[in-house]
Amino acid sequence: MLRPDYPIRTERLLLRPFADPDLDDLHALTGDPEVVRYLYWDVHTLEETRAALTRRMGQDALTEEGQWLVLALDLDGTVIGQVVLKWASAEHRQGELGFVLNPAYHGKGYAREAAEAMLGLAFDGLGLHRVFGACDTRNEGSWRLLARLGMRREAHFVEDEIFKGSFGDQYIYAILDREWRSLQSTSST
Ligand SMILES: CC(C)(COP(=O)(O)OP(=O)(O)OC[C@H]1O[C@@H](n2cnc3c(N)ncnc32)[C@H](O)[C@@H]1OP(=O)(O)O)[C@@H](O)C(=O)NCCC(=O)NCCS
Repeated sequence: MLRPDYPIRTERLLLRPFADPDLDDLHALTGDPEVVRYLYWDVHTLEETRAALTRRMGQDALTEEGQWLVLALDLDGTVIGQVVLKWASAEHRQGELGFVLNPAYHGKGYAREAAEAMLGLAFDGLGLHRVFGACDTRNEGSWRLLARLGMRREAHFVEDEIFKGSFGDQYIYAILDREWRSLQSTSST
C-alpha cells in the first residue's frame, strides 16, 4: 500500500494529485493530437477532460493491485504533465510506469525528474521488485527516456495489438529494485 505525503518535491517540480483548478492545464495534454498520438486515449473534448480530471483526483494512493497512482507535474503552479504508476501485481511486486509531458516543456529533463521520483515511490514506498514501461516502437521520445532511467529493453513485440486502427509494435523496458538501488548509490557518490 502506498499513500504518499504531498507534495513530493523534486529538484524543480512538485508532484501532487490533480485538483479542480488543473482543468485547462490537463486539457492542454488531453486535447493535443500530438500528445495523444501514441497513448491509448483519443483527443478529448473539454467535457471529457473534466471527467478525466475527476477520475485523476481520486488516484492519489495505491491500496490494491490494479490501481493507478496519477500525479501532476507542478512547475511553479502550472501543471506541465503527469506521471503514473500502476500496481500491476501484489504477489509478484510488479509495477508499470508512464509519463506525459506538455510539448512546450519537452527536452528539459522534467519527465525524467518526475519519473525518477516515481521509481523511488515504487521501490522504496511500495516495495516493488520490478517496474516496467511499455511504448510504441515509433515513440522514440518515450523509449529514449525509459533507457535514460536505466531500464533495459526486454522485449520487442511485433504487431501484438491493434493500436488506433492498425497493428503496431511495442517495446517493453524494465528495471529491478536492486538495479535501481545500485544506480542511486552510483549517482550519489
Ligand atoms: C515521452 C516524453 C514525456 C519525453 O519527454 P522529454 O522532455 O523528451 O523527456 P525528458 O524529461 O527526459 O527530457 C530529456 C531531454 O531533455 C534534455 N535536458 C535538458 N536539460 C536537462 C536536465 N536538466 N536534466 C535532464 N535532461 C535535460 C536531455 O538532454 C534530453 O534531450 P535529448 O533526448 O535530446 O537527449 C514526451 O515525449 C511526451 O510527453 N510524449 C507524449 C506522451 C507519450 O507518448 N508518453 C509516453 C507513452 S508510452
